[in-house]
Amino acid sequence: MSRNSDSLRQILGVELPIIQAPMAGVQANALAAAVSNAGGLGSLPCALLDVDGMRAELAALASATAAPFNVNFFCHKPPRIDADREARWRAALAPYYKELGLEPDTSPAAGARIAFNSDAADVLADFKPRVVSFHFGLPSAELVGRVKSRGAKVLSTATTVDEALWLEAHGVDAIIAQGVEAGGHRGMFLSEDVSTQVGTLALLPQIVRAVGVPVVAAGGIADARGVSAALALGAAGVQAGTAYLLCPEATTSAIHRAALKSETARHTALTNVFTGRPARGIMNRIIRELGPMSPAAPEFPLAASAILPLRAKAEAQGSSDFSSLWSGQNASGCREVPAAELTRQLAEGLQ
Ligand SMILES: Cc1cc2nc3c(=O)[nH]c(=O)nc-3n(C[C@H](O)[C@H](O)[C@H](O)COP(=O)(O)O)c2cc1C
Repeated sequence: MSRNSDSLRQILGVELPIIQAPMAGVQANALAAAVSNAGGLGSLPCALLDVDGMRAELAALASATAAPFNVNFFCHKPPRIDADREARWRAALAPYYKELGLEPDTSPAAGARIAFNSDAADVLADFKPRVVSFHFGLPSAELVGRVKSRGAKVLSTATTVDEALWLEAHGVDAIIAQGVEAGGHRGMFLSEDVSTQVGTLALLPQIVRAVGVPVVAAGGIADARGVSAALALGAAGVQAGTAYLLCPEATTSAIHRAALKSETARHTALTNVFTGRPARGIMNRIIRELGPMSPAAPEFPLAASAILPLRAKAEAQGSSDFSSLWSGQNASGCREVPAAELTRQLAEGLQ
């Protein structure tokens, strides 16, 4: 392993510089514990957890592994409520409500994703995780300072060279370079323009050249050869998400698993229809008919609430027409094997 990888391993406190990507909605502590116990860095996503949920998951994770793990948060700005946009969005969804026999949804838009805040920092103080990672930039300097004062190393995602330079200037210990192939939300935070987004093969060497901190490659890495390629381009380690989605420890739904195993997984898109921010998922009816990018979708995370009743009703009928089937462009590495085995297979690329 390179000097680069050694310094990342020291920062993370792990044997293998392989991070299991935090994936809100499809995993909890079991996947994280399995990867950490296998020598990689397991991650616990907290974007969908309230403070009690966080405490319960962290307690379970801490009792399931003595090895370091990562706790992950979204840190988006609170959305502006825009009544006109909300009305346009609900009008766009109305025909689907009618088709599925649902009453037009009039419940107020609610933010399903929680941004890192002072309460979450208090919970972290009790559990003292080795690593804390953020998506969508960083929280306030005061909150980052509180996280660091407890000894945690701080990572965040960059999707452009400018974002990597910004993160380094704001004191992160390592940068996750997220190529446009990646599944789930783009971590982009300096621009909303998706034309700024770059593939892993192009992004990684440019970020490595621009910054002094270790760089972790993410996006499209699904097997040992992908890991070797990332290291050859200067990555100190990798973060893989999609590849872990079929592991028994993940909580990926049956509908999502079926899509990942089928040929439909070959066509993904960056879409804002599920949450209001661009995220990559498997193409389906709602993305095709309203997106992929819809100007009517309310600001993140408000777009999510009006879709949820449609998703629940359709899924109950066995349909994934309204489901966010998050996946990267390379689902070829998804295997129904225990996460420890997948981690060991990825680690063969570190030689
Ligand atoms: C289902 C899914 C959910 C995700 N949720 C999160 C999340 O909660 N926090 C985060 O920082 N990244 C999240 N991501 C993005 C990953 O951190 C990572 O960038 C991505 O998985 C890497 O690309 P790959 O999926 O091609 O391996 C998610 C990705 C997927 C596939």
